[in-house]
Amino acid sequence: MSEFIQVVRDGAVQSIRFNRPKKKNAITGEMYTAISAALIAAEADATIRVHVLFGSGGVFTAGNDLADFMRSGSIMTDSSNITQFLKLVAGLEKPLIAGVDGLAVGVGTTLLMHCDIVYASTGSWFQTPFTALGLVPEAGSSLLGPRIIGHALAFELLVAGGKFSAEKAFMAGLLNAVVPSESLEAETMKAAVKLADLPPEAMKISKLLLKGDAGAVAQRIEDEVALFAERLHSEEAQAAVRAFFQRS
Ligand code: COA
Repeated sequence: MSEFIQVVRDGAVQSIRFNRPKKKNAITGEMYTAISAALIAAEADATIRVHVLFGSGGVFTAGNDLADFMRSGSIMTDSSNITQFLKLVAGLEKPLIAGVDGLAVGVGTTLLMHCDIVYASTGSWFQTPFTALGLVPEAGSSLLGPRIIGHALAFELLVAGGKFSAEKAFMAGLLNAVVPSESLEAETMKAAVKLADLPPEAMKISKLLLKGDAGAVAQRIEDEVALFAERLHSEEAQAAVRAFFQRS
């Protein structure tokens, strides 16, 4: 388990919270492992019917921990904790809901493409600086992004590094609703409880129908992981990550 991931069960809903506000909830390998363990346990537990993701401290997450990118040559392999986490999220049978308050960067945004419902607060924003970091899109977003928001907006977000406001993300089709920050968690939980009250078998089959070919998404995650790993070793990526930590 990780001190930076909080897991709370409330009736039939399990909430997982990124809880590392001092580092903008940047996600380390240990945190991916803890989230995966919580998701696997909830998938196997018939009393839990819905997964929810929250951030903390007015931040959803600043994405993957960049220090891990510098430290570990093997952070991105088929068996690494991030890849296992991404494949798990892509194949969840129970609904996944996110309540985004504040910034959602990198995997903080691409993760949302696997959610079934996403609520965000008015001041939230979304960005994936992959290209600026010398990297490529991950989490299956190169397949799901164009599918969900169309090529032009997906290119703007995933390749050009555009910063989307909550309103723009909503108009693009990435979000279900934009709500005031004060009511975000209550609204998200209300939506989760509503889903949890529906017949679980019908829910599972319907979600699978809408998600379509899970194999294609898993394959894309693997293809992206191979390219991402290659890029991590590039001088472009190493220089960009070094520059981030050398900011004054
Ligand atoms: N990985 C590791 N540490 C991170 C981080 C990340 N992804 N994002 C933020 N942090 C750390 C900062 O290094 C800083 O640590 P420090 O206080 O020890 O110096 C702390 O979190 C606060 O971040 P800071 O940059 O001061 O906050 P900000 O409000 O000025 O900016 C961001 C917030 C998210 C815009 C900025 O932190 C950022 O660009 N982070 C990197 C995002 C990113 O590239 N993610 C990976 C995408 S693949």
